Amino acid sequence: MATSARHPLRYLPAALIVAFTSTSFAANLTRDNGSPVGDNQNSQTAGPAGPVVLQDSQLIEKLQRFDRERIPERVVHARGTGAFGEFVADTDISDLTKAQVFTPGAHTPVFVRFSTVMGYRGSPEQARDPRGFATKFYTQQGNWDLVGINWPIFFIRDAIKFPDFVHANKPSAVTGVQDANLAFDFFAHTPEATSMLTHLYTVQGMPDSYRHMDGFGVHAFKLVNAKGEVHYVKFHWKSVQGIHGIRPQDIPTSIGKDWNLMSNDLYTALKNGDYPKWDLTIQVLKPDELAQFDYDALDDTKIWSTVPERKIGTLTLNRVPDNYFQTTEESAFAPSRMVPGIEPSEDRMLQGRLFSYADTQIYRIGTNYNELPINRPLATVTNNNQDGLMNFGDRKGDVNYEPSGIAELAQDPQYKYVQTPLAGTTQQQAIHKTLNFRQAGEYYRSLSAQDKGDLVTALSADLNHVTSETNKYTMLSYFYKADVDYGTRLAGATHADVSRVAAQAAKLSD
Ligand code: HEM
Repeated sequence: MATSARHPLRYLPAALIVAFTSTSFAANLTRDNGSPVGDNQNSQTAGPAGPVVLQDSQLIEKLQRFDRERIPERVVHARGTGAFGEFVADTDISDLTKAQVFTPGAHTPVFVRFSTVMGYRGSPEQARDPRGFATKFYTQQGNWDLVGINWPIFFIRDAIKFPDFVHANKPSAVTGVQDANLAFDFFAHTPEATSMLTHLYTVQGMPDSYRHMDGFGVHAFKLVNAKGEVHYVKFHWKSVQGIHGIRPQDIPTSIGKDWNLMSNDLYTALKNGDYPKWDLTIQVLKPDELAQFDYDALDDTKIWSTVPERKIGTLTLNRVPDNYFQTTEESAFAPSRMVPGIEPSEDRMLQGRLFSYADTQIYRIGTNYNELPINRPLATVTNNNQDGLMNFGDRKGDVNYEPSGIAELAQDPQYKYVQTPLAGTTQQQAIHKTLNFRQAGEYYRSLSAQDKGDLVTALSADLNHVTSETNKYTMLSYFYKADVDYGTRLAGATHADVSRVAAQAAKLSD
């Protein structure tokens, strides 16, 4: 029998391994120490009428294990569905990046987790919520995680606001129930969310299937080529299946029919061999092109609407994981997990995300979460990290430091982070080119008449929960500022005075 580097018997002499593994207990129920169980139905008792005895270690261990079966759910994106597949690169972009995952013809295994954002782990999969689209690429140069959503933008542009954004949108601290009144209290003070809210309340904001939505990296990232040259890129997964959402009037029936619609749809398709695909496209800007817009190109509330997209590969999902907990629940995606040739941009949201994910994962799963099968890179990990709770890594030898004249680990300067020019002093200032409303209006005007109507129906239904008149008029003024027709129709649907909305909108800067 071959023992892999990870096999639990790898520390034992080969002769012993053969002796153990040739004795098969396969058909027997065993305890965690591998010994057979005689009776899993009746606890050991002191006589026919006496109490249960403490020496029944099968009973005790079984209950102890059960008591600890849950790990904390993700603080956001708790409800999710995972699937395995592969990414095949098809276009030479070596002029942009040295990342081997993009070598034409390279096949890279992936694990994708789709999710909702605000609901609990067991919450319905249909919710007015962005959908997570997180992809872990197990590349030859280590794992790269592209942790995106189904929209090209986000609600806020600075990580310091993220906990507040989540608190306002998660269930109320008093009732435990989501409350549109609290959400819009936050959004009334967050004009940069106008474009994302407009996207969220469309029919596409309620995808009828994970297969029928796109994915976006949202932020700009840096691609770095072998010469050390930098380009800024945005990533877009384009659904080959097409985009399809649920209209407001169909939502109650569809939720009533199946709370788990999204998981069931994806897994049924995979089991039937109907493998969903997404093309990966990129938009590219040179560093000196970032300043050419009247918005900040590194503001994640903006799309690069005038920059062309080009296809660089295709993702295919083809396998349902056979253990939900060990894959979907224990998977840990992080925007900070990158490979040579891909680096973060200076986007302030992305910069906060670079810290937050690995931090929460150390808490949620444990210090050595990267050693779990779903998170472990296919590339060999060689470093001096050691110990910690549940460590089962392969680090060997007593030179657990660096530098060393005994067993030095090489470091290749070609993998140093790229150098970026800096300017100014430290500061705490909002970005200058906010342009909070224009892209929301452009998006509204791009919708069909039916989609505009559905957007107004869905958004006004939630705006009608806003109890503060000030918040209500502030929200309406944002939408009016984005587009007069949009704001007027929302004012009508929320019984508001449109002239007051217009007057308030007139005071807003672009
Ligand atoms: C500063 C802003 C943000 C912070 C601090 C933040 C933080 C977090 C945290 C703590 C998690 C849970 C991770 C885990 O337990 O494994 C998470 C999950 C996630 N976030 Fe964010 N997030 C931010 C913004 C965003 C944005 C802008 C996107 C989309 C581009 C996004 C997409 C996701 C996705 C898809 C997941 C679920 C990953 C999975 O399936 O496991 N987040 N986020």
